[in-house]
Amino acid sequence: MADYDLIVIGGGPGGYVCAIRAAQLGMKVACVEGRGALGGTCLNVGCIPSKALLHASHLYSEANGHFAEMGIMAQPTIDMIKMQSYRAGQVDQLTGGVAFLFKKNKVDWIDGWGKIEGPGKVSVKTAVDADKSLTAKHIVIATGSEPASLPGVDVDEQRVVTSTGGLTLKSIPKKMVVIGAGVIGLELGSVWRRLGTEVQVIEYLDQITPGMDLEVCKTFEKILTKQGLQFTLGAAVQSVEKGSRLTVRYKNRKDETEDSVEADVVLLATGRKPYTAGLGLEEAGVKMTDRGVVETDAGWRTNVDGIYAIGDVTTGPMLAHKAEDEGVAVAETIAGQHGHVNYGVIPSVIYTDPEVASVGQTEEQLAEEGRAYKVGKFPFLANGRAKAHFATDGFAKVLADKETDRILGVHVIGPSAGELIHEYCVAMEFGAAAEDIARTCHAHPTLSEAMREAAMACGDGAIHM
Ligand code: NAI
Repeated sequence: MADYDLIVIGGGPGGYVCAIRAAQLGMKVACVEGRGALGGTCLNVGCIPSKALLHASHLYSEANGHFAEMGIMAQPTIDMIKMQSYRAGQVDQLTGGVAFLFKKNKVDWIDGWGKIEGPGKVSVKTAVDADKSLTAKHIVIATGSEPASLPGVDVDEQRVVTSTGGLTLKSIPKKMVVIGAGVIGLELGSVWRRLGTEVQVIEYLDQITPGMDLEVCKTFEKILTKQGLQFTLGAAVQSVEKGSRLTVRYKNRKDETEDSVEADVVLLATGRKPYTAGLGLEEAGVKMTDRGVVETDAGWRTNVDGIYAIGDVTTGPMLAHKAEDEGVAVAETIAGQHGHVNYGVIPSVIYTDPEVASVGQTEEQLAEEGRAYKVGKFPFLANGRAKAHFATDGFAKVLADKETDRILGVHVIGPSAGELIHEYCVAMEFGAAAEDIARTCHAHPTLSEAMREAAMACGDGAIHM
């Protein structure tokens, strides 16, 4: 008899959620995780610590900005050591919370690095105990991703950092160069900019956040520029040289000219790649693409019987909530149920100020498909609550099918966009039309009213415009 019904390798949002759901469905489950804490990149060095620093730096910038206008007279100063210990404390509480959930659900946490020795066989190298050999009926690979490297850029996590080192700087750098205007570059760039760093973002493409709705991208770039982020677009970073300061060399793509800029810290944020080192996938015969992405069918099964893969290590957006949903779905599939993920309704959020959130298709995607659509837009400037909060930058945009009015995509740049988007996620799961949102009573005064007005703008028109 096998030691376990299921061994999950990786204790991030995909893996730990999968383990808990499988246990709830009656399976005997172990989760192998070697970093000494559960929660993966998200809880330890990603989503959670970055949100802590985004929150703290946002309040600091508010204190220096709008407080006086509201009659609050304050002169805040920063204690970076204390801010970092607040960040670390939040991480400890949440990773400890996952360990508690494992105990509650009787999931065994095997604290070590797992290797697949063949179908149903996992060995674990632990830091303290002797190595273990375990057997299981099913194995789920949920080993996540790691920062992609860039030739010529030697990461030391002190001065040349990825998101990991970029979250733990002990002092505020004078000048930071961010390589890559994606989600990580803009979130972390915002943190340090708000705390007083001069931040220059160098991006290969001619726009920031590629893949997002273009109108949102353009507005976003303008707003961030107003906040003091400097953008060098259409420039490919070639190398970072280390001296008493750092020299970042880059090539301007349009005329091939070379430039350089000096910095105290360089943040490398040019994407992430699946993490499969030491997992034994090649030996086990698990198929991967040339880029190391573990290939699966629609039921998250790899080509090897009894081995599944979910989250960042497999195809799709590298998002914690996508991994979580796959974790639940694969556990249900293994239990003989019909696990399902609706990939058409996975929201994405950038936690800057204002936040940027989207779900479904962009205008560019709809145009390329040749689909007839209509656009309903509403600016936060016309929303009373946003006005009272000094948060009028941005808009909500709803894209609906021209004939049927069915909601096809929603793109929001504005206050609390990351929360506001979810009413549309639910609506889209139910196949709603824009009119369904427009006819739903929304409390006044709320930011959500802007979301409703955007839906109204798809029909007879918004009221407050
Ligand atoms: P990204 O893929 O979002 O952006 C990387 C950017 O770097 C691209 O715009 C690319 O054109 C640029 N680039 C690549 N090579 C370059 C070079 N040599 N010189 C200049 N620019 C160059 O990657 P990022 O921001 O590192 O994020 C990684 C993953 O983590 C993403 O999949 C993201 O979805 C996820 N993530 C999500 C968050 C969220 O949902 N809020 C937060 C943080 C990360």
